[in-house]
Amino acid sequence: MDKASAPIGVFDSGLGGLTILKALQEYLPNEQFIYFGDTAHLPYGEKSEAALISYVTDIMHYLKSRGCKLIVVACNSASTVLTKAPNLPYEKDEIIEVISPIVDLISTQKKYQRIAVIGTRKTIDSGLFDKELKQRNNQLQIVSRATPLLVPLIEEGFSDEQALFPIFDRYFKDFDDAELIIPACTHYPMIYKQIESYFNHKLKVLHTPKIIAEGLKDLLDQNQLNNTGSKNEDEYHLSDLTDGFKREAEMFLGRAISLSRTLLK
Ligand code: DGL
Repeated sequence: MDKASAPIGVFDSGLGGLTILKALQEYLPNEQFIYFGDTAHLPYGEKSEAALISYVTDIMHYLKSRGCKLIVVACNSASTVLTKAPNLPYEKDEIIEVISPIVDLISTQKKYQRIAVIGTRKTIDSGLFDKELKQRNNQLQIVSRATPLLVPLIEEGFSDEQALFPIFDRYFKDFDDAELIIPACTHYPMIYKQIESYFNHKLKVLHTPKIIAEGLKDLLDQNQLNNTGSKNEDEYHLSDLTDGFKREAEMFLGRAISLSRTLLK
């Protein structure tokens, strides 16, 4: 099999990476994707660096064994440990993560100055968004906040305003001045409409999946890795199978999917 016709691996701790996958499927309909949701280890945002490095390494080795040509790390928490993981089976330029493309875009745009970053504890504590954005554009005013309760709520399907708004009251206290929210967790695009509605549409939530999909498209073009032949069905693998995942995933993707339980160790 030539490299261009190989699948692309995409992974996250659970449902969140599907926000990225859905955009990839829309932008790149000729590509085959193999999705891995590490539901047995969710939430990644509360795990130690050592644990995350070990999960990320195992998943990438599995995707490599399946012949994936490129990897999309569809998880901000996992993206924070990539540079510290010594035994990844992919080179840096074969991996797309979800932090640098957003930092590149926001640090060079002129429209938004006052920015709020929300993410898991792991992502916010890493300081990567804060540090990189300020270093590259010192005009930006950044507030960042860990909002860890949002992931279990989304995984549970509690994404209505009645469930979310009381939590937003606590988390978004001093965000009124912000012009843009960066959802630095791939679960959060599932509730971006509810966040915009909470702020009466006075601020915008960045549509991060679209930016990652454009990045992957550029990478495929530059390396002439676009699949031009036929493609196999996309695959969905979970380290633990739950009814909740199937229900929420199918609702989000708008179609039935078949899930396989795939143990890595
Ligand atoms: N969706 C992931 C992220 O972007 C992980 C959320 C979690 O498992 O805590 O960080």
